Amino acid sequence: MRQGNALVAMKTVVSAFYLLPVCGIIQVLEAENIPSCTPRKTVTYQSGNLKSFWKRELSNFSTLIVSEETDILYAGAKNFILALDLNDVSKELSREPWFSTEDRQLGCLRRGKSKAECQNYILILHKINDTSLYVCGTNAFHPVCSYVVIDNEKLQLRGKAVESRGSCPFEPNLKYASLMVDGALYSATSNNFLGTEPIILRSLRNPLRTEFKAQWLNEPTFIHMALVQDSRKSADRIYVFFTETAVEFEFYDKIRVSRVAQLCPSDLGGRRVLKNRWTSFLKSTLVCSVPELDFQFNVVQDVLALKAAEDGHETIFYGIFTQQWGKLDISAVCAFSLGTIRDVFLKGSYKVPLSLDCSHVNWVPHRGDVPSPRPGGCIDVSAHNQGYNSSLDLPDQVLQFARDQPLLDDTVTPIGRRPVLLKRGTKYTRLTVDRAVGLDNSSYNILFLGTGNGYLHKALSCHGETIIIEEIQLFPSPEPVQTLKLVPKKGLLYAGSASRLVQLPVATCARYRCCFDCVLARDPYCAWSLPLRSCVHAAGQPRSSQDLIQSLRNGDASRCPEEGRRTGFFAFCSGAGVGACRAIAVCLKVWFRLITVKAA
Ligand SMILES: *[C@@H]1O[C@H](CO)[C@@H](O)[C@H](O)[C@H]1NC(C)=O
Ligand SMILES: *[C@@H]1O[C@H](CO)[C@@H](O)[C@H](O)[C@H]1NC(C)=O
Ligand SMILES: *[C@@H]1O[C@H](CO)[C@@H](O)[C@H](O)[C@H]1NC(C)=O
Ligand SMILES: *[C@@H]1O[C@H](CO)[C@@H](O)[C@H](O)[C@H]1NC(C)=O
Repeated sequence: MRQGNALVAMKTVVSAFYLLPVCGIIQVLEAENIPSCTPRKTVTYQSGNLKSFWKRELSNFSTLIVSEETDILYAGAKNFILALDLNDVSKELSREPWFSTEDRQLGCLRRGKSKAECQNYILILHKINDTSLYVCGTNAFHPVCSYVVIDNEKLQLRGKAVESRGSCPFEPNLKYASLMVDGALYSATSNNFLGTEPIILRSLRNPLRTEFKAQWLNEPTFIHMALVQDSRKSADRIYVFFTETAVEFEFYDKIRVSRVAQLCPSDLGGRRVLKNRWTSFLKSTLVCSVPELDFQFNVVQDVLALKAAEDGHETIFYGIFTQQWGKLDISAVCAFSLGTIRDVFLKGSYKVPLSLDCSHVNWVPHRGDVPSPRPGGCIDVSAHNQGYNSSLDLPDQVLQFARDQPLLDDTVTPIGRRPVLLKRGTKYTRLTVDRAVGLDNSSYNILFLGTGNGYLHKALSCHGETIIIEEIQLFPSPEPVQTLKLVPKKGLLYAGSASRLVQLPVATCARYRCCFDCVLARDPYCAWSLPLRSCVHAAGQPRSSQDLIQSLRNGDASRCPEEGRRTGFFAFCSGAGVGACRAIAVCLKVWFRLITVKAA
């Protein structure tokens, strides 16, 4: 029995070690020729490493916002708005109940919805200033928005709840996106009870919306909205990510496509044509595919932007993609540069329907003249120079063109023209991205991916190669990760499921017990300290120190101390009583030498 346990323990350690990063190596898997990444280490649920918020009466934590100034994490849940301690989410600071009235609930039940659906799910939370939040809930299929004031960490609903169709979903399970910019709420959701009227709306200030036309939005699932600011305000852009049914393909089945749409915050609509409608709505197709296998991931699940950095790195959008006909259980992550997206909207050609006969329509690139200024654009410097001071001044001809041709023929292709990560057998639900500077002074992008069964994958994207450093079980039972939030300054991550919220550090370096493990993990947050003989957090250590070992690019552990070498490879392999860590280190070192020799 005892021996059995020891063996299991040994196996776990060994498997953790020999799962070296393999994503760079194309593995030919049984059924399809799709390479897949394998996490190097698996950390099962250990409540000790996580701070967890769980209360029987609270569930469905659908939205999280962070106030770094006040160290508060606000959460929207079912019938409650919560304020939690950002440094320890298990500490509740305040809660404000917000239930639907009994009448409202009865009305909802009468219209055929379930008791669970006829609740007030708080789906939208935006910070207005240090003392107030804008908040919206589904309110038993009758969406409303209101304000919450924060007085001494205490939350309090303030003011009248205003009916807000188009701002907040009716249905708690429907995907949606929203953003608050300069006191205006931008929302992408459904405008009616049945969920048949999709809309991208600006409310609270200068209201504008999309046309109810299939060319604009066709059965969309909204995923994400992001503001990209520019030094010139007129060049600010909002990007909306969604999946919709393609109008441009003819097929016996509906074909879904991933899109990115552009909107300009400076848009005021047209004067006659497109009055109270977006004049700057243009959309393009997002491509995430494995080109040589002609394998398309057409459904986008989540998107997050890694913002531009002071050191000149540009904004990158990372998206999780899957396939519409989910026979192959594969998630892909594609990265798109802001420059590519911007170029497609600035220069891409329009796609237009061409009627062949009564029943057939072919969508082709527009070849004729395009009116000026460019339809669907923002009022930028060149439009200004032509005398157009706002979208209200645009000629009818331009607005008609924009109204009828919002789709571009040019597509947005990912960086490297392929996914940065492919994972078989795992459904990714949420992602967030961090950037860390390694001891080599280069900066590295780290992806955190939440899975459908409650794991977090930490992946390093490095020079065209991606490895999954580790997977961490977040919840005691398998539940999808529904929200993921990163606070880079604190090095903390927050993840939510239907039933709980957890907090964890971006790295737990001490988990790597020996030098080889620490270095081969290629975790940008960690480095092996020779004097301390432990795996330490790299941040805060002197950059130039010769006492630290880290090798993110190629996982070269040859600088690790030689101790234990004499015990030898065979000693380990025959299982002679050597400390596992040390023996495996030797094993790996031999192996590493072999592959370096081979490579040379
Ligand atoms: C915060 O915003 C609310 C709502 O717009 C406003 O009433 C309040 O005066 C603002 N508070 C501060 C401190 O600016
Ligand atoms: C735009 O503003 C300029 C200067 O303020 C003005 O001369 C011009 O007439 C305006 N153009 C339109 C179309 O209103
Ligand atoms: C990184 O930068 C620091 C300070 O700028 C410098 O001292 C150090 O030598 C650099 N390290 C490398 C590996 O270039
Ligand atoms: C709310 O949470 C419960 C479990 O706590 C889950 O079964 C249910 O599906 C969730 N509902 C929504 C709308 O997310």
